[in-house]
Amino acid sequence: MRNDKVRVLFVCLGNICRSPMAEGIFRKLVADAGLADRILIDSAGTHGYHIGEPPDERAQRTAGRHGIDISGLRGREATAADLDTFDYVLAMDYENRDNLRGLRGDTAKVGMFLAYAPGCGCTEVPDPYFGGCEGFEHVYRLLEEAAAGLLADIRERHLRLAENPYK
Ligand code: 4NP
Repeated sequence: MRNDKVRVLFVCLGNICRSPMAEGIFRKLVADAGLADRILIDSAGTHGYHIGEPPDERAQRTAGRHGIDISGLRGREATAADLDTFDYVLAMDYENRDNLRGLRGDTAKVGMFLAYAPGCGCTEVPDPYFGGCEGFEHVYRLLEEAAAGLLADIRERHLRLAENPYK
């Protein structure tokens, strides 16, 4: 196994809605690009409300409708060690980002996930937990757009693999 993997951590509040969806979407994108052995992907929450729980049913259903199975993921809380371990620590909203900055560790790595989707018109992924299923679909689309931007950034900055123009 290579030890030069790029490490990506997606972070929301509870780690049962937004960040596990982001993890599932990004895992599929990376696997489809043949880069699964080059990029390590995980997710976490800044609060411990749902440690050990599977993703919210609505998040599972939404991802499932798009062919992505996130049922095996389990909630965990972000730690200061994560800030040292991961190359990208990507928050879904400003509250998550501020919570991460409150941990000891290399906070320079903390960024906003939607910075990779500059055309989407928003900077935060809205928290869908207290809303209906449409909220989850909207979140899915934002995450999908940012995931593509993130992979392009990793290719350029870390893997030096240009998009294949003949694909
Ligand atoms: P997430 O959504 O941060 O996207 O996983 C939430 C999940 C649970 C709660 C809030 C947001 N909660 O208050 O339990």
